[in-house]
This record gives sequence, C-alpha cells and structure tokens, in this order.
Amino acid sequence: MIILILVVLAVILFHYVKRIYSFWERQNFPYDQNSKIPYGCLESVAKHKKSMGMTMYDVYLRSKERFLGVYLLFRPAILVRDVDLVRHVLAEDFASFHDRGIYVDEEKDPLSANIFSLEGKSWRDMRIKLAPLFTSGKLKAMFSTSEEVGDRMIAHLNTLIPEKGTMKIDLKEIFTTYAIDIIGSTIFGLDINSFENPTNKFRNIVRLSHKNTHPAAILGMLLYLFPSLVKFLFRKFGLKNPVALEMLKIVKDTIEYREKHNIVRKDMLQLLMQLKNTGKIEEDDNFDAKVTKKAGSFIENISIETITAQAFVFYIAGQESTASAAALTIFELAQYPDILKKVTEEVNRVLAENNGKITYETLQKMEYLELCINETLRKYPSLPLMNRICTQDYQIPGSDKIIKKGTNVLISLFGIHRDPEHFPDPEIYIPERFLPENSNYNPKAYMPFGEGPRHCIAQRMGKINSKLGVVKILQNFNIEIMPKQDIEIDNYSILIVPKGGVNVRLSKK
Ligand code: HEM
Repeated sequence: MIILILVVLAVILFHYVKRIYSFWERQNFPYDQNSKIPYGCLESVAKHKKSMGMTMYDVYLRSKERFLGVYLLFRPAILVRDVDLVRHVLAEDFASFHDRGIYVDEEKDPLSANIFSLEGKSWRDMRIKLAPLFTSGKLKAMFSTSEEVGDRMIAHLNTLIPEKGTMKIDLKEIFTTYAIDIIGSTIFGLDINSFENPTNKFRNIVRLSHKNTHPAAILGMLLYLFPSLVKFLFRKFGLKNPVALEMLKIVKDTIEYREKHNIVRKDMLQLLMQLKNTGKIEEDDNFDAKVTKKAGSFIENISIETITAQAFVFYIAGQESTASAAALTIFELAQYPDILKKVTEEVNRVLAENNGKITYETLQKMEYLELCINETLRKYPSLPLMNRICTQDYQIPGSDKIIKKGTNVLISLFGIHRDPEHFPDPEIYIPERFLPENSNYNPKAYMPFGEGPRHCIAQRMGKINSKLGVVKILQNFNIEIMPKQDIEIDNYSILIVPKGGVNVRLSKK
C-alpha cells in the first residue's frame, strides 16, 4: 500500500514539474531550451560553479531574442535582452515593475527593511527620506574623511613596497579596506584604521559577510528566488541576519554615546540620527540631530533597527562596488600604456594647478579619469544582474505577449555592457568611446548605476571615492605595464567579485 501511495505521489509530482517546465511553451513565448529540470538555467549556481550574474550572462549569450522565458529552479522568469524594453521595465513603465521581489519582512524583521529590498509605498517613502543624504553638499562635507583614509592607504602601501624595484599588490584587497574604512567612518561614524589594525571589530564583522561556501550560495539563491518561503522559515525559527545584528549593536552604542555627550559629526550616521529624531534629513548642510520629534507624528515609526538596516545596505552596496571600480581601473591602465600615460598626465596637471591638493572640485576637473571610470564600469558593472518583479500584468510593447503579475524579470547588465551590438570591441578598454564626438556606443545600453526611480541612490559617492582611490595610487606609485588579460569572476555574490584578487605590480616614484 505504502509503495503504491509513493508511486502515485511520484507520478503526480513528475507531471506537476513537467507542467511548470512547459509554462513558456504554453504561453507561446520564446524560451531558453537549455533550462532543464530541476535547476532550470541555474545548474552552475546550484553546483557552486558560477555566480548568478555570470550564469545569466551565459543565457544572454545563447540567444538573440528581445526577451526570453527561463526557469529559475521551479520559477518561470523572463530575461529581457532588448535595451528599449529594459528601459521600459526600469523607467517608463515603472508602475508595473517597482519592486525587486527579494526577501524583506518589515513587520517581524525590521533589519531586513532596507531601501534596496523595500517595496511599494514603504520604498518610495524611504527613498524620499534618504535622498538628501547624498547631495553634493553632504558629500563635500564628508570628503576630508575619505581623503584621510586615502592617505592611510598610501602610508600602508609605502610600508609594503620596497624602495627599489616593483612589488605585486592585490589592489582589490587594498581598495576593499579603503572602501570599508570610508563607510565605517562616514556611515557608521566609527574611528577605525583597518590598515594599521586589520582585526578591528567592524572589519571582523565585515569578514563574516564575505563567506564563499556552497550553503551560503544556496541560501543566497533561495533569498532571491523564494522570498515568501524564506520569510516563513525566518519567522518560524526566529532567524535573523547575524551580520546585521552585530551592526545594530555598533549603531546603538555610537548613537547613545553621541546623544549622551552632545557630539555632532559631519557624517551619515549624524544624518540618520536626524532622520530618527525629526522624521527627515535636512536638505541644507545642517548635520545637527538634536531637534526633538513631535508627539504622534509619523516619524514614531523610525527605529534604530530601521536606521541600521539602511546603514547596513549602504555598506553592502557601497564597499565592494567602490573597491572593484578603483582596482579594475588600475588593472586596465596597467595593460594600456597610452591610456595610463594620458590619465597620469592629466592627474599631474590638475594637481599642479591646485597646489597638489586633491579636493572634491579637483576630481571633477579630471575629465579623462571620468572616461576611464565610465569604461571600467562598462566592462565590469558592479551589479552584473538586475531584477524586478512584475507588479501588474504588462503587455510587452510591440508584441502581443503579456508578462503576468508575479513574474521575475531579469536584466543581464554584464551581457548588455559586453554586447558588440551596443559597444564595438567590448573586450577592449576604450575610455574614448564615451567622448561626445566619438560616441561609438549605444547610450541606451549604458546603465552601470541602473536606471529609473530605483537607480543607485549613491552614484556620486561611489564615483568620487573610486576616483579618489585611483588618483592617490597614480600620485604616489608607478604602475608596471603587463600583458593583456581578463579577470575571472568568482562563483559567489550578487556583485562582481574578481577571483584571486586584482594583482598589479607597483613601485615607488
Ligand atoms: C561605483 C560604485 C557603485 C555602483 C557601480 C553601483 C551600482 C548600483 C546599481 C547597478 C544599482 C541597482 C539599480 C537598479 O536596480 O536600477 C544600485 C542600487 C543601489 N545602490 Fe549603488 N552602486 C555603487 C555605489 C553605491 C554606494 C557607495 C552606495 C551607498 C553608500 C550604494 C547604494 C545603493 C542603494 C541603496 C541602491 C538601491 C536603491 C533603491 O532600490 O532605491 N551604491 N547601485
């Protein structure tokens, strides 16, 4: 009897799964023929061979369709390849795609309620509240902190690199410490120096979140694909993100200390305290957080957990992307002597005109450096795969096909940025392609910071700190030219992580 029941269940399951895997055929959509039971197109992610971003790049490459049905394990999803349609999804038709559809539980797990994951009205309210954090006035006020961290990076490199000869340096590691210290200081308000003290509390917590294990990769995939299941399991077993909990302790202690001693510092924590106490961040350059909240106003809802959730996502979104952009720029310069010469001459000239001082304004004057950073972010977009969830049935323009509510929509930014149709010779590093008079690329296809209302909120901050890091290196060291090569992208993380670091040989000037 038991055997019979098991056989019947197996047959039902078999037909159920077969039915899921015929979804796109039944909808008459073009679909990826390589999506096979049980992983769909995610076999290399499930087997921990490739990251999700690079796996979807493979799917992008094996099709020429405008849009393509795929299966993510047992979930039908759409990969949008056509850049006009991408822009519809991200910007023009935002009303149908305003959420990312990833795990968030505002009610029971406020530490998960960060601006990246928040949905609908909660996201919009938070976005409006946080926007004043990243004005140029605020960034200028915080620039001196970034510069101090840059100087500590140079002091550290000076202790490593010999007086004569070159030394191989993993710039990814160096710039990660640089970016973490900038975020630790400007966002968490900590007085840290991870170059001198690499085992400080903040750096150690950060290491926890960099684990590359097979279970971590599977969990990452589930958080992304089955947010409701994860929500259910987290609630059932009272699970919380351990890194966010550690961050919460740090934020609580720092806020308490500042409030007790009436300390006002020009950093983002101060502005987040302002948000907590007053319900908004001042548009001007006022960093004071002492204004008291009015009883019964909506701002009652802003808790330390909510503040920490935002600080935490700024750390996640900010450090890896800033570090990669800076490290990969130097990596490319080391392969193109003419470009290296041109950018070094520009840096030397602009600094000479400004008494050798690097300021927020001097960085804006380095126009060729801007082109180099643009080209780095083209070749290596920090977020290789973007996604949205369809929030209301949507008819694809120029087609009779409907994307159903609840469908995951994927955009392979890596695929688009390396598509010769949009960027001729995509493997070659050509900063000049962005010159207005050359413009040998499709501007609609270039979106390193995303597009539409959910584009990167800290674009300016990411760029300025990457530029500053590159300028500090060019100012202080010679970069040894090396043969042309590409980096291998590691098999984990939703961001681009270069496997084995980014190694370049440097010598003292
Ligand atoms: C070179 C550096 C950076 C790059 C290339 C980058 C890229 C991106 C991209 C592609 C997105 C997704 C946009 C979309 O879905 O349309 C994004 C979103 C976001 N980024 Fe950045 N980013 C960088 C630096 C930063 C920094 C420094 C921070 C914070 C301090 C940050 C915070 C965020 C946040 C909070 C979002 C989500 C915005 C929302 O959903 O409203 N990013 N970023």
